[in-house]
Amino acid sequence: MVGGLLRPLLVACGPLLLAAAVAAAARPHTNNGFYYHDDGNGNANGEIYFNGVRLHVESPQASVSATTGGTVTLPCHFHYEPELSAPRRTRVKWSWLPANAAAEPARPGQTAAAYAVETQVMVAMGNRHRSYGGFRGRVRLRRSAPGDMSLVIDELRPNDTGRYRCEVIDGLEDESVTVELELRGVVFPYYSEKGRYRFNFVGAQRACRDQDATLATFEQLFTAWDEGLDWCNAGWLADGTVQYPITAPRAGCGGSDLAPGLRSYGRRHHHLHRFDAFCFSASVKGTVYFLQSPSKLNFTEAVQACAGNSSRVAKVGQLYAAWRLAGLDRCDAGWLADGSVRYPIAKARANCGPPEPGVRSFGFPPRHRKFGVYCYR
Ligand SMILES: *[C@@H]1O[C@H](CO)[C@@H](O)[C@H](O)[C@H]1NC(C)=O
Ligand SMILES: *[C@@H]1O[C@H](CO)[C@@H](O)[C@H](O)[C@H]1NC(C)=O
Ligand SMILES: *[C@@H]1O[C@H](CO)[C@@H](O)[C@H](O)[C@H]1NC(C)=O
Repeated sequence: MVGGLLRPLLVACGPLLLAAAVAAAARPHTNNGFYYHDDGNGNANGEIYFNGVRLHVESPQASVSATTGGTVTLPCHFHYEPELSAPRRTRVKWSWLPANAAAEPARPGQTAAAYAVETQVMVAMGNRHRSYGGFRGRVRLRRSAPGDMSLVIDELRPNDTGRYRCEVIDGLEDESVTVELELRGVVFPYYSEKGRYRFNFVGAQRACRDQDATLATFEQLFTAWDEGLDWCNAGWLADGTVQYPITAPRAGCGGSDLAPGLRSYGRRHHHLHRFDAFCFSASVKGTVYFLQSPSKLNFTEAVQACAGNSSRVAKVGQLYAAWRLAGLDRCDAGWLADGSVRYPIAKARANCGPPEPGVRSFGFPPRHRKFGVYCYR
């Protein structure tokens, strides 16, 4: 790559390098793909040789999806063409651009890429490696074969999503490839017990967290829309924008002339403006179940009943995840931890709500009313 050839010229000097630079400048196209060999591998004299070997870095998958709490492998391999007769000293750097990176306040005309910053995940050289921040102790290189620099991440967290860059650095040349990490999960709209449009950005973050979820990213909401989510109330997303997904255009939801899609209010003031939230739940640890009880329960009794069965009242995110990821299907309304009453239908049928699968909601009924209960253990 031409950029890779020219960049080192700024930091190094010497007659050999200068000669190479002239060659590179004179033949930019034919030089594409060559690299300079820092023969510091032993004699450390800083001489640069031009040897026509090319470094290739590849990933067979541009994106990988995984489950929270699980382990994921982000593939990345390198090799040389032609093959090398002796091993070379190679460094590998994995860095990460979080899916939520755009959450910083934007200035007009600024794109996400302009202020999003990649953070370091791991640097490895030979058998030594070092991991950083929240990845410390959770990441390693797979090394299943020579050149295998695939990154293995354990105990995946909801906020590990984003774009990962695998960069192989050899002497003065480097090549990189990116792999997108997505989490399997489900997006659900969420509003406050106090009513519609009560959350500022921070409140929306907290509300999702309280339901064992995170604010959905744009990509997650887009996927949910693509899979049929239609919701005519605007909610916060992780990047600080406010949007809502419409599959059946109609008046009052952006108008019937507008094509189906995500309707965006753009970036809103994080403290002053109030909306609902779109949460993303990927939780799969544990089980959600409808508690068999001889009689129906008010909210206080529901809390006690789950505790009496050594569990807790399920959170909304847990119910959605159990419905979507484990196929929980039950045509009985039950209390959830936030005081809402819902039930999950995986196979739509008569007398169990609309003709599509979904989590049905009764909103937040008065707490003395009697229903079943969904527990989580
Ligand atoms: C990511 O989530 C973990 C808990 O799951 C939390 O400790 C950490 O601070 C979060 N990181 C960011 C950047 O939000
Ligand atoms: C309590 O949990 C057990 C499983 O540990 C289950 O067999 C039992 O039916 C539950 N009790 C009630 C009342 O549902
Ligand atoms: C639920 O019923 C119990 C009696 O079984 C009562 O003490 C409690 O106050 C009721 N809770 C609510 C929220 O109505």
